[in-house]
Amino acid sequence: MIDGFGRKIDYLRISVTDRCNFRCSYCMPEQQSFLPHRDLLTYDEIMVLVGRVIAHGIRKVRLTGGEPLVRRDIEVLIEALGQHVQKGNLDELTMTTNGSRLEEFAPYLASAGMKRINVSMDTLDSEAFRRISRGGDLNRVLAGIHTARAHGLDIKINMVALKGENEDALMPMAAFCAEHGFDLTLIETMPLGAGVSEREERYLSLDEFTAPLRERYDLHPLAHKSAGPARYWRVEPLNLRIGLITPMSHNFCDQCNRIRLTTDGKIYMCLGSELHVDLRTALRSGTPCDVDHLLQTALRLKPQRHDFETQLAQPDLRLARHMNATGG
Ligand code: GTP
Ligand code: 5AD
Ligand code: SF4
Repeated sequence: MIDGFGRKIDYLRISVTDRCNFRCSYCMPEQQSFLPHRDLLTYDEIMVLVGRVIAHGIRKVRLTGGEPLVRRDIEVLIEALGQHVQKGNLDELTMTTNGSRLEEFAPYLASAGMKRINVSMDTLDSEAFRRISRGGDLNRVLAGIHTARAHGLDIKINMVALKGENEDALMPMAAFCAEHGFDLTLIETMPLGAGVSEREERYLSLDEFTAPLRERYDLHPLAHKSAGPARYWRVEPLNLRIGLITPMSHNFCDQCNRIRLTTDGKIYMCLGSELHVDLRTALRSGTPCDVDHLLQTALRLKPQRHDFETQLAQPDLRLARHMNATGG
């Protein structure tokens, strides 16, 4: 799949549920309504779509949410997707999770052939963690991370930079990740979703957020690439690899390789755009040809880049959709 700007699309992010057991302050408002169950694609429908996108060149799949591990019987979907990895149809199957249910699910992830997962964790202070996630239990997440590691999964911690909330958490997090051999990805908060409080006040560029790290350590650029938009650095002498995701301060859209499936069967071509195609009817009552046709339409819709900078400055231009609908 090549889009209208010559970019090769080989990465599908699947949001399996828009629900989450946390309410991270930068992701969604405290009172959030969710899709009715009848609107969700079934696991069979997701697998039909995955078969079609593999036929068109998708090689990497990431499960997201909401929180993917809160959807009922998620191990069934994970196992079915794992078969595509075993057959060599996919190079990578992975997940972004809040970690709260990893203790229970890590064995399923490992046996489906997942090699690494990304776990969101914005601080190591349990009080601050509870505040930012509006109720999350840090100890459960830590226990989940260590269980996943014990099952052989590599761990990357996702930490969103939040002015006035977690600047002081960076150095402890860097030390923690170095100690355990985890990667650490730092992320600039994106202005996505209506009703998310204090977004402008919370935005902090990673140049500012990482200043204390750069004062104390040496950062060397790395050639390493993962499926996503992070640029990687080695922090010495900590021996830590960090990834920087800078949608706001350093645009990376020219490298974009991904599309997103929402829980209710829409494919969004860009995290920062409303452009999408709705595949649910084609998946429920159409033919594979109908699905293929919509995928081709989707490719043509992919915009050159997001416009988060303007949306940050002009709230009336912001997308109503929250991060949990598209899974980041
Ligand atoms: P890997 O590189 O494969 O580890 O994955 P990833 O970093 O793409 O996945 P993850 O789900 O951990 O996302 C980390 C952050 O990057 C989240 O805040 C996402 O919203 C953001 N992100 C991922 N893809 C894109 C993208 O295409 N555009 C923008 N603007 N942000 C993205
Ligand atoms: N801006 C940046 N990252 C976000 N995430 C959720 N909401 C936002 C936002 N508004 C992150 C989560 C998770 C990943 C999927 O997206 O922390 O790690
Ligand atoms: Fe791709 Fe849109 Fe993300 Fe840019 S913002 S990298 S175009 S999905």
